[in-house]
Amino acid sequence: MDQTALMLLLCLCSSALSDELRLVAGRRRCVGRLEKKDLGDWKPVEYWNWDWNFTSAAGACRQLHCGSVVSLQIDENYNVEIVCSDSVRLVQGTNRCSGRLEVKTNQSWSSVCEKDFDLRDAKVVCREIGCGPPSVHQGAFYGEAEAPVGSRKFLCEGSESALLNCIRIKTSGRNSCSPGQAVGLTCSDNFRLVGEASRCAGRLEMLHQEEWRPVAVMYSYWDMNSAAAVCAALDCGSAVSVRNSEEDSERPVWWIWSHCFQSGSELKNCLPYDGNNYQSHEFICSGLLVEPLIFLSSSTDGVSTGRKQGSELLIGSNFSIICSIRPQYEGGSFQLIFSTSNYTQNQTLPAVNHSALFLFSAAGHAHQGTYRCVYHVYVFSYNFSSISQPLNLTVSVSASPTALIIRLVVVLLGLLGSVLVLYFKARRNQKSGPENNHHDEGSRAEGSLEEETAV
Ligand SMILES: *[C@@H]1O[C@H](CO)[C@@H](O)[C@H](O)[C@H]1NC(C)=O
Ligand SMILES: *[C@@H]1O[C@H](CO)[C@@H](O)[C@H](O)[C@H]1NC(C)=O
Ligand SMILES: *[C@@H]1O[C@H](CO)[C@@H](O)[C@H](O)[C@H]1NC(C)=O
Ligand SMILES: *[C@@H]1O[C@H](CO)[C@@H](O)[C@H](O)[C@H]1NC(C)=O
Ligand SMILES: *[C@@H]1O[C@H](CO)[C@@H](O)[C@H](O)[C@H]1NC(C)=O
Ligand SMILES: *[C@@H]1O[C@H](CO)[C@@H](O)[C@H](O)[C@H]1NC(C)=O
Repeated sequence: MDQTALMLLLCLCSSALSDELRLVAGRRRCVGRLEKKDLGDWKPVEYWNWDWNFTSAAGACRQLHCGSVVSLQIDENYNVEIVCSDSVRLVQGTNRCSGRLEVKTNQSWSSVCEKDFDLRDAKVVCREIGCGPPSVHQGAFYGEAEAPVGSRKFLCEGSESALLNCIRIKTSGRNSCSPGQAVGLTCSDNFRLVGEASRCAGRLEMLHQEEWRPVAVMYSYWDMNSAAAVCAALDCGSAVSVRNSEEDSERPVWWIWSHCFQSGSELKNCLPYDGNNYQSHEFICSGLLVEPLIFLSSSTDGVSTGRKQGSELLIGSNFSIICSIRPQYEGGSFQLIFSTSNYTQNQTLPAVNHSALFLFSAAGHAHQGTYRCVYHVYVFSYNFSSISQPLNLTVSVSASPTALIIRLVVVLLGLLGSVLVLYFKARRNQKSGPENNHHDEGSRAEGSLEEETAV
């Protein structure tokens, strides 16, 4: 075997994850330039030899006994700089911004007890690992941990940069917390679309180091596949378009690598790094519109009552169905779709003031069925639509069951009253004769009886 072949073999072996790694020249132990031991010498890892993905970066942090990976950076000399969190990490989550919280103290990782941790502490952790603010924190969400031991209670104010900067008090330790009460944490999305009336359209921004900036893709561009990943991650349906935005000026951006959101990986796993760019991009997703609302308004008693679902009308009453939508875009139209088990019909009205009124006279059994409003609008050179919840309408001959029950109770009480009055009358008649008859009571009882039977 010649010298070159031997070198090649050694290089191949040393590129495995079992490489000896270290971070140097950082402001703390878990931050710095990544170096790898190569034939006995420490050499910086060059950025073109680095697999820029979450798995490899997370692996490096883990190997260095640091916490979660927070960001990646290229240094001046094309080296790789990694920022890992020192002593917090989320484990067993679906992405880097969720999981069970573990804190390192005295060189070992342990879970934190739910009762020693609150929303302000959660804010600090989410910030520390470079994710958005906390959306959920609860116990036993990300796998059952053994009961947290030697627990410390955290007293964060919420503005600290690291959990270990918060005041801690030692709690009673062992057995103070049962299994299933380990803190699980979900930090919210660290990306959003901005600049449009909808959260599902606009320029992509990412939150990192407490700063929202536009996002640019390293050595690549936003195509429909990557746009689809963005729309899906935001729960905004599918991608309609992605285009360069008109403005063209150099600004600070967060750079990400395209493979961080491809191959099923989550956008949250992207590790942004600092840089400048000229271009920003506008995304449009299919879930652009909010859901319209549907109301029933009937005027039987002169007062309009709008109810959201499961409405009942008295036969013969005039009614209207109102479709409306939270103002996002001007114009558009509302289509009212009526369906029964064997029949579908629809009518359309232009949206005036973001709503439309469909009038119906003399409710009959033919009006019974399900109504839905569909809002249609043409924006960004595309047609969009969104559909409301269903409104199920029934038409009854008499009033609602509750009203019937109330009337029945009134009638029964009236009858009871009359019976009692007749009884007392009879007793008085027995005692003092017919001339002492209490006419008021008798007529009142009769009156109420007549009134109720007339109902
Ligand atoms: C990410 O990096 C790991 C480790 O280097 C590698 O095994 C994996 O294939 C990479 N994944 C992607 C999607 O590039
Ligand atoms: C840290 O660990 C060492 C050795 O395992 C132990 O002696 C020491 O008491 C521990 N300190 C704390 C504060 O738990
Ligand atoms: C319903 O509307 C018609 C006119 O469209 C009116 O003549 C009728 O009195 C109304 N009925 C009720 C119950 O309000
Ligand atoms: C739908 O079915 C009902 C009975 O189930 C029937 O009375 C009605 O006429 C049908 N309507 C149409 C339009 O076929
Ligand atoms: C609405 O009605 C028209 C005919 O009036 C029909 O062509 C169309 O398919 C209907 N649309 C829906 C969604 O039912
Ligand atoms: C639209 O709504 C606003 C307030 O909700 C009202 O002031 C205005 O008169 C309405 N315009 C029309 C055309 O109904």
